[in-house]
Amino acid sequence: MCANVLAAVAWPYANGPRHIGHVSGFGVPSDVFARYMRMAGHRVLMVSGTDEHGTAIQVKADQEGLTARETADKYHGIIAADLQGLGLSYDLYTRTTTQNHREVVQEVFRSLHRNGYVVSQVQMGAISPSTGRTLPDRFIEGTCPHCGYDGARGDQCDNCGRQLDPIDLIDPRSRVNGETPEFRENEHFFLDLPALADELGRWLDTRTDWRPNVLAFSHNLLKELRPRAITRDLDWGVPIPVEGWQDNDMKRIYVWFDAVIGYLSASIEWARRSGNPEAWKDFWHGGSAKAYYFMGKDNIVFHSVIWPAMLLGANGQGSRGGEPSEVLGTLDLPTEIVSSEFLTMKGSKVASSRGASIFVGDFLREFGPDALRYYIAVAGPENQDTDFTWEEFVRRINFELANEWGNLVNRSISMAHKNNGAVPPAHTLLGADSELLEASRNAFDVVGQLLSQSKLKAAATEAMRVVGLANKYLSDMEPWKLKDDLERRDTVLHVALQVVQDCNTLLTPFLPHAAQKVHEALGGTGVWAAMPELVEVSEGEATYPVLTGDYTQQQATWASTPIEVGRPLAKPSPLFAKLDESLGQTGPSWAPIQPAEG
Ligand code: MF3
Ligand code: ZN
Repeated sequence: MCANVLAAVAWPYANGPRHIGHVSGFGVPSDVFARYMRMAGHRVLMVSGTDEHGTAIQVKADQEGLTARETADKYHGIIAADLQGLGLSYDLYTRTTTQNHREVVQEVFRSLHRNGYVVSQVQMGAISPSTGRTLPDRFIEGTCPHCGYDGARGDQCDNCGRQLDPIDLIDPRSRVNGETPEFRENEHFFLDLPALADELGRWLDTRTDWRPNVLAFSHNLLKELRPRAITRDLDWGVPIPVEGWQDNDMKRIYVWFDAVIGYLSASIEWARRSGNPEAWKDFWHGGSAKAYYFMGKDNIVFHSVIWPAMLLGANGQGSRGGEPSEVLGTLDLPTEIVSSEFLTMKGSKVASSRGASIFVGDFLREFGPDALRYYIAVAGPENQDTDFTWEEFVRRINFELANEWGNLVNRSISMAHKNNGAVPPAHTLLGADSELLEASRNAFDVVGQLLSQSKLKAAATEAMRVVGLANKYLSDMEPWKLKDDLERRDTVLHVALQVVQDCNTLLTPFLPHAAQKVHEALGGTGVWAAMPELVEVSEGEATYPVLTGDYTQQQATWASTPIEVGRPLAKPSPLFAKLDESLGQTGPSWAPIQPAEG
């Protein structure tokens, strides 16, 4: 039953602070899942890091007058701090500019190359005549040969949606300075996807429990797989580990090829740092773990097709055969791809000077982590693109977290504190008592089942349904009127506290910070829900910050545990502050809602 669980979380780009849309795609869903899995007794390895190579980071660096490395350092620090603030329980959140990552990426590349799945090809590539440097596809603009649209880019036409090569464009020009690019022969390495397609197809056929849209989408791609360039003309990235290429300062491995390998390199780094360098194998070899990958929908193809293809090729399992790497062994493919749709921000356009973004850091400073976690879980883009609105945020926090959950905790503990000063004993249970206790006990299976499938919305709704039942129970039983029947009053308060404890357990994956407080308010001590720490680690001469944590000592387990009679109770402080209703109309000062036009 206790299979190991690898929670592989998409790597955010180091090209700016992350907004709430990003963390709704990869962050909150993966953490809710990982926390649940740990509570349910699984050994979990949750890894990710900052995606620091590639053009996106170089473009940002140019804008800010920094080097690519300075930009990566700056945003890795900011992003790691934001993810820590949200309480995302990474075992290791690292970065792609480490020596370890470079070595693992090169080892995967070499295996693919040796097995014949990475081959070099000559293409026509665009360069800028004034600088002599390569122009990336999307920095070239021109007229679409298919529809005549004038603003088509070298990678695709936004008007007719067709994929393009820069050389197809009529009247091509550089988007950087308007000059006409020159086309020259240029050699690159390609991942030979057609040689892996059959094996990929067979593997996809075994993924029967994937969401139908992900499966259909991936199967479709197989039909038109072409070799894909996995190197670029660029000086910022992992060097190509092949004779004659290694020292070429203008060629690097393509950022997506390097980033997906991060799941593996971060697992290896985690194992080393935790003092058992072999431990990563428990999550990568021989089906000893289930591997769940978390991401926004724009990342699906890289995880459902490209990464599995890379793994098959490195393992020597495509049509050309081959041998696995001696260092890495035969690596397991993903078990699940958990993707979410987009969180849009149409209803809360923020002043354009700030960009149309609601940044995680700002959000955390004003509202704290659990409000955002809860909102994303119950009102996030789990199955369709969903608009974030401040109005809905206020409603969810005020009516659900504050009025329903906060209030249940507060009134149950306050009454027991005032009347007993401790958890009172239960005497004779009546029908309503047993019914409520049973409902909350049963919720563990239901909510657990939903969480193991990453159905956050349904899981949170079910937990909150029990909270609603408990509130109704208190209103019906009116313990405050039972001054003349203290046994009955004790019983009602005992039952209420038991259900508060159960609901707190059920809500812990969603609200880990609040859960720790409720644990303490119920008289508990020690760590209920463990939190990630930001620590500075070293690699050779260099040091850099990572997120890590010890989640094995936390007390939270996925079960109804009997509340301890006689445990002293203090007067609780409110769990969630209510938000001012006007926030729904105005937004916060740092992201004000723009008045509708006209
Ligand atoms: N940086 C990419 C993005 O933000 C995601 C990379 S995920 C990984 O879209 F697979 F490469 F790790
Ligand atoms: Zn077109």
